Amino acid sequence: MSALSKDGVAGPQVLAELDEMSSGDVDWRAGRILTGLYDPGDAAYELSAEAYKRFLTQNALYINMYPSAGRMEKEVVASLADLLRGDDAVVGSMTSGGTESIMLAVKAARDHARVNRPEAVDPEIVVPISAHPAFHKAAHYLGLRIVVTDVDPSNGFRADAEAFCAALGPNTILGVGSAPNFSHGTIDPIADMAAAASSREILFHVDGCVGGLYLSFMRRMGESVRDFDFSIDGVTSISADMHKYGYAPKNASVLLYRDRGLRQHAVFTCSGTTEYAVINPTVLSSKSAGPIAASWAMLRHLGETGYQRIVRETWEATQTMLEGIERIEGIEVLGDPEICMFTLGSEEINIFELDDEMKKRGWLLLPQFACGGGPANLHVSVSASNVPFVDVFLSDLAESVAHLRENGPLVDREMMVAEVAKLEGKPFEELFLQLAVLAGLTGTDLPEAMAPLNTVMDLLPAVTRDRMLAFYINAG
Ligand SMILES: Cc1ncc(COP(=O)(O)O)c(C=O)c1O
Repeated sequence: MSALSKDGVAGPQVLAELDEMSSGDVDWRAGRILTGLYDPGDAAYELSAEAYKRFLTQNALYINMYPSAGRMEKEVVASLADLLRGDDAVVGSMTSGGTESIMLAVKAARDHARVNRPEAVDPEIVVPISAHPAFHKAAHYLGLRIVVTDVDPSNGFRADAEAFCAALGPNTILGVGSAPNFSHGTIDPIADMAAAASSREILFHVDGCVGGLYLSFMRRMGESVRDFDFSIDGVTSISADMHKYGYAPKNASVLLYRDRGLRQHAVFTCSGTTEYAVINPTVLSSKSAGPIAASWAMLRHLGETGYQRIVRETWEATQTMLEGIERIEGIEVLGDPEICMFTLGSEEINIFELDDEMKKRGWLLLPQFACGGGPANLHVSVSASNVPFVDVFLSDLAESVAHLRENGPLVDREMMVAEVAKLEGKPFEELFLQLAVLAGLTGTDLPEAMAPLNTVMDLLPAVTRDRMLAFYINAG
């Protein structure tokens, strides 16, 4: 159905239609979303929404017309450079999110290497398997090879520093570490990795998208946090998202460069068309100043004290959750998380069935497939809105696990293993249809119970799975 009406619809009616449309969405205020929601609590939310609205129309592309946008961006960047212990040489830009910051960091590294590393004739980036998919996307878009190295499951799924260092070669233009990785909430051995890169004149990016602010506040509160920022010499760029634990609304991230010389390679200019001259330090050209204003407002309003309060509350809530989970027989936390994020695995029950059970009780967790030597798991990110519900979470979790230990498994995994094996070598379309049947998919709408689908997907090699997912999303 087209959104375009014939003669226009009155504003109140349009708003009523929008409300009706969103009535089937999850309730993000209910405190039961444990992934992808970074909510600072009501008062701060209202302020950031107001700041956003006031700068919605200003185009941050035109800082000559809207100097306020340029000033706010500089002040947000300066705040993060300070948190991440950069010196006066550190510069940065605001982007639309972690993915854009990462793409920009990779583009800067690629173009830096064209000038400074002519021996890198077939340029590649080296990333641990726990690095965010945005690095794969950046390599794909920018025509670079990506070399993936192991993580150590016995060391919290942190990057295996030796494997990483061994993979650095004459074609490597950028190494990457996460602080923390999203999947398990652990920090890579950044100091070792960056030193190895630096000794070979290779740039090194720290993905602090999810942890840049949070970990810095933890450190300032006196918690022991492994070094990951510009205090390490070999670190040449860091991404940190305001729209995650910076508690700004989307789309807001910051990319920091060790110095202007590196940022120069991120800039794109084009003045040779009949159009206006384009000068872009980021991927986006036109962009609303709303997210910049909302980020600035959050930093002003919450301040050091406000951020530390939220970090303390969420970190304590995380500890309570981790301790409570230890008492629940049948599940375990994988690794030793260093931030308010962790992941649940089980040797006894189908973890995807646990996801469905928790969903029935109103909780949203995030399934992740087996990878990097670890089993399939459920990711949890704790945000301010979850803090009052920690006890309910633990009792619902205990009840769900007990239910599955008694009544599971509901999915016949062995049968699925056998069926998937039979499909090897089949043409893709046939494979897709048969797997869809196996997974209980009848149309493009996702089923209520996702365990059969997730179990099938978990059994596939990642390349086949990616192809299936692309096919599915394109069919919708
Ligand atoms: C560690 C990390 N890096 C990058 C990203 C990508 O960020 P975005 O979704 O804002 O593009 C995420 C998203 O969760 C992340 O956790």
